[in-house]
Amino acid sequence: LSVPINVNRESDEPLYLQIESQIRSLIRLGDLPAGTRLPPERTLATSLGVNRTTVSTAYQELAADGLVEGQVGRGTIVCSLPDGRMQGGEDSFPQPLPWSEFFSVGEGGQDSLVRDLVALCAREDVISLAAGVPAPDLYPIERFAAVTDQVLKGHGSVLLQHCPTEGHLPFREALAELAAGRGVAASPGNILVLAGSQQGLDLIARALLKPGDPVVVEVPTYLGALNVFRRAGARLLGVPMDEDGMRTDLLERLLTRYRPQLIYTLPTFQNPSGVVMSQERRRALLSLAERYQVPVLEDDPYGELYYSERPPAPIKSLDRHGHVIYLSTFSKILFPGVRIGWLVAPRPAVDRLGLIKQHTDLHSNTLAQWALVEFIRRGWLQEHLAALRRAYPQRLQAMLAALREYVPDGLRWNHPGGGFFLWCHLAAGLRSTDLLAEAGQRRVAFVQGEAFHADEGGQGSFRLNFTYQNVPAIREGIERLGEALEVLLADRREHRAARRGTVRPIV
Ligand SMILES: Cc1ncc(COP(=O)(O)O)c(C=O)c1O
Repeated sequence: LSVPINVNRESDEPLYLQIESQIRSLIRLGDLPAGTRLPPERTLATSLGVNRTTVSTAYQELAADGLVEGQVGRGTIVCSLPDGRMQGGEDSFPQPLPWSEFFSVGEGGQDSLVRDLVALCAREDVISLAAGVPAPDLYPIERFAAVTDQVLKGHGSVLLQHCPTEGHLPFREALAELAAGRGVAASPGNILVLAGSQQGLDLIARALLKPGDPVVVEVPTYLGALNVFRRAGARLLGVPMDEDGMRTDLLERLLTRYRPQLIYTLPTFQNPSGVVMSQERRRALLSLAERYQVPVLEDDPYGELYYSERPPAPIKSLDRHGHVIYLSTFSKILFPGVRIGWLVAPRPAVDRLGLIKQHTDLHSNTLAQWALVEFIRRGWLQEHLAALRRAYPQRLQAMLAALREYVPDGLRWNHPGGGFFLWCHLAAGLRSTDLLAEAGQRRVAFVQGEAFHADEGGQGSFRLNFTYQNVPAIREGIERLGEALEVLLADRREHRAARRGTVRPIV
């Protein structure tokens, strides 16, 4: 659960009272109905950047008024409002509607992990190395405004109508050319335009999965995909990765034993690990999919963002018998708010996915599709990609240099050749959630490894984004991260010293 609370450090009102009064009004409004568990004190303290005792005092005040109570093993729970305030009387109000009882689908616990992180990153004073988004300072705003203006003025009365669910035909033609540039042969009829690639994941899950169906995923993998597959009730089968991508030598056993409905892979500059799957593994994965007749979902938001050598062509480029759905997006190479993604798939899959899309949102935004056609036609997408390939390596190098400079021993990281992320491993025994708690106090954020794991793993790892912040902010963020790690290491030293000092019975 994330609780929408802001604290104002300039205000004369003490911080604990600000927190207390906001939670009080959320309870009265029914936003926090009876039975809701408040965030653990430490989590809320981290996301607000305050001391734990501040949150603790706020909770105690609420408890003293009977609005919440501490329950052993459950944390702090919102109580039912006292009767006098429910019925009759002038200042009475009816019991808030218990919305959660009406929801048909429960959302997984990991979402709250992410929501708390989102709350932390929403604070203006926090340097977020968490988000997986491009650099806003590099957005080609003037150019996008120019093409939007042109198509709107020239064709407004046509383009502001509905368009086919599969997408505006000239846009699908432009996408087919873009795909060809990546080595993927497609006709416009093989293409479905999406409201972001996240929608593609959702449509594919709805088309292919029913509760209990096994789905192969990499460990670690993109957390938005894990959430979609979990919500579909899929049984997640994790395959470990190494520096060449998914361990295809371990895949065959899963295919024979579980007969999965889908293999989900991110072979190029993977989110979160930055790893590129080798050409040999790409071939091995496809031939296993062909032998065992399993659809492959290849998610490729980052393939164009290479900073040294060009990565191997997508798996889809090797697909001769229609086993692969190729998914991509403009979110990482242009801007995420445009909400345009696309997929390439065999006709039967495009038809079925298109039908589900029609039931969901009729079609994707027409203005964005027309504007993108013009943007691509003028060669501006390729120019923008070239600019990103010049700018992002500088940010990556700045982050690597800052890590070497500011971070004490106790952390390992990789050197990705493209994409958005560095993947970090803490020394044995250190946990990234503890590091995030310390980092939150120092106003810097990243994503804990657990979020990307289909199983219980990932406690010792975390993801750093190097594209969103500019170079000075990256250096500052890593300096703060180094301080946070220093505290964790000092705690561990103290803990060890204390353990050495204790006398243990010999049994
Ligand atoms: C691997 C991967 N797939 C899909 C998405 C979703 O992107 P969008 O829906 O903005 O296209 C992301 C965004 O972080 C991603 O990293």
